[in-house]
Amino acid sequence: MTGPRKLYVKSYGCQMNAYDSHRMADLLAPEGYMETAEPEDADLIILNTCHIREKAAEKVYSELGRVRQLKEAAAQGGRRVTVAVAGCVAQAEGSEIIRRAPIVDLVVGPQSYHRLPDLLARAEQNERRKDQIVETEFPPEDKFDHLPAPTKAATRARGVTGFVTVQEGCDKFCTFCVVPYTRGAEVSRPAEKILAEVRNLVAGGVREVTLIGQNVNAYHGAGPDGGAWKLGRLLLRVADIPGVLRLRYTTSHPGDMDDDLIAVHRDLPQLAPQLHLPVQSGSDRVLQAMNRRHTRANYLRTVDRLRAARPDLALTSDFIVGFPGETEAEFRDTLSIVDEVGYSDSFSFKYSQRPGTPGATMADQVAEEVKTERLHRLQAAIKRRQLAFNASCRGLTFDVLMEKPGRDAGQLTGRSPYLQPVQVMAPASLLGTLIPVTITGTISNSLFGALAGAPRIDAESTLAAAGA
Ligand code: 5AD
Ligand code: SF4
Repeated sequence: MTGPRKLYVKSYGCQMNAYDSHRMADLLAPEGYMETAEPEDADLIILNTCHIREKAAEKVYSELGRVRQLKEAAAQGGRRVTVAVAGCVAQAEGSEIIRRAPIVDLVVGPQSYHRLPDLLARAEQNERRKDQIVETEFPPEDKFDHLPAPTKAATRARGVTGFVTVQEGCDKFCTFCVVPYTRGAEVSRPAEKILAEVRNLVAGGVREVTLIGQNVNAYHGAGPDGGAWKLGRLLLRVADIPGVLRLRYTTSHPGDMDDDLIAVHRDLPQLAPQLHLPVQSGSDRVLQAMNRRHTRANYLRTVDRLRAARPDLALTSDFIVGFPGETEAEFRDTLSIVDEVGYSDSFSFKYSQRPGTPGATMADQVAEEVKTERLHRLQAAIKRRQLAFNASCRGLTFDVLMEKPGRDAGQLTGRSPYLQPVQVMAPASLLGTLIPVTITGTISNSLFGALAGAPRIDAESTLAAAGA
């Protein structure tokens, strides 16, 4: 080998994929791969894909067209580029990817990426025989046991917000969703492993930790005492780790919001007053057809209980419009729940038929134009609410985590407790601190603010507290 090989990872879709991409880079670092931001320089290109909606898979195929050109240009210069497709499209499509894009050397599902070094070695040996490798089993071993911890340098380079996967997969089987098929059954990681990973992130400079999982509040990992720990208990223990200034978790199912977890919103000051709690639809008939296992009324009751526990809680949601059979009146029930809950922001999507899911073969698929029109109306309602929420922040003082240099000289960009970006005139020495800011103005989804106090804990003393 003549020097470090270069790795380019492109991540699509959710935070889980972004996390997996980092872990793949961490896994390949000891194998001599250095990450690059330039696909042209790469010896190994990994596309970490998402299959949740149609366009995501199509984007992968068009990206593979560009990768083919890079691979061919490199080959003319005598350089070999290995191409791997990972993530949920890999899981769902398997060898179909190689049929549609023969330049792909390796297809690896989300449960198997700990086997990458081995698979890459096999792919290189295969080069002469032109075989490609497809690995989409759900292997018996736990991939997390085979992944190295991220190095401090890698964590520092990734900034002050860190993500830790606490559970994967889902047993809910909403009728529109591929996750139970691509990510498999719900599996929770042992609490000690998660706590160790958080300590490691904090030592690398992370100040805000988000616990992630497809159905994160179904968490029930083994605790050190032998019992199964629920998410509320895990959050309390994570918050005990010195240096964890702010804590979040995502994405939750309304049916798994238990009393202990709601109480943690009341009792844990580090837990940000913001929760992503997807409702998907405001119509009981549609919710039932989606197999969501909650009604409009009991979702709203959960929201009330959460707000009783934490009155300043801001809620965000995911919505699907045009689920099979959705009528205009049912769609209006979705529009009205946006105002009834008063979401601070939300994601919204047109229903997309996912092969293998029950929704895909339901009668009464909604016409594309109807979906488009409903999506525009829903997005306008969400935007109105978002602007009203942002405007209501003017004059408030809250803690902002300073994440990176701002748009203009002398500014830093931070995040409010409610996840809004905040521009503040502040010296670079305040990067990585959590500091009170008074909101002076808003435009669209951004806030402007002025420093209003000293950092909660400065970076050095936090690092010292974490034993770094
Ligand atoms: N069509 C449209 N949106 C979907 N989502 C999941 N599956 C589909 C689908 N088939 C949305 C849901 C989910 C989010 C991650 O993606 O709103 O909460
Ligand atoms: Fe998909 Fe979420 Fe439903 Fe699980 S709970 S099936 S991940 S939408």
